[in-house]
Amino acid sequence: MKVNEELSRIRARIMNCTACPLHVGRKNPVPGEGPADAPLLLVGEAPGREEDETGRPFVGMAGRLLTEMLKEAGVPRSSVYITSVIKCRPPGNRNPKKGEIEACRGYLLEQIAAVRPEVVVLMGNVALNSLKEVWKLPGGNIGEISGELYDRGDFKVLVTYHPAGVLRDRRRKRPLFVSHIRLAVKEAVKKRGEGWLGLRLEEFEG
Ligand code: URA
Repeated sequence: MKVNEELSRIRARIMNCTACPLHVGRKNPVPGEGPADAPLLLVGEAPGREEDETGRPFVGMAGRLLTEMLKEAGVPRSSVYITSVIKCRPPGNRNPKKGEIEACRGYLLEQIAAVRPEVVVLMGNVALNSLKEVWKLPGGNIGEISGELYDRGDFKVLVTYHPAGVLRDRRRKRPLFVSHIRLAVKEAVKKRGEGWLGLRLEEFEG
């Protein structure tokens, strides 16, 4: 099965998912979007109000900032795959519960296997905590373990702040977020070759 067929199949299952109670209150599930062979796959937390309305990830305020920061790091948003740990909006934007994260984790792992990115970027604590044990990531908070590539065989994992967290502390976190993404982009260019987006490795040195 080709990778896009695989992603469509996962998407169809998410659209009809009733595995946790969040399906009752959702307007639209938000499976994720991006090229089926994207070298970077970004993982957020959960859809908010605008995502629930539109069925698209990161279209609210945090999403606009994410788009800007990706551009600043040298990649258009349309060149990366963007999804979240859970695919349906929790009421009132509360944090996802353990059972909801567990019910949704299989979809995320299948999406990663289908896209086969070079780097999976975990944005924020919910993304970090949901995969920390699965991928045996080091302990410590985001400030401590971000900005490093953890090799997990088929792909590398990079931890960074959630764009909503960047919104609350822009001066400090925005440059960090951009530098973390640049590290991921550099790795992608190394692996996929300089043809990807016409980027040259030397643009990412130093
Ligand atoms: N925040 C997330 O973590 N995911 C979205 O899709 C939107 C906002």
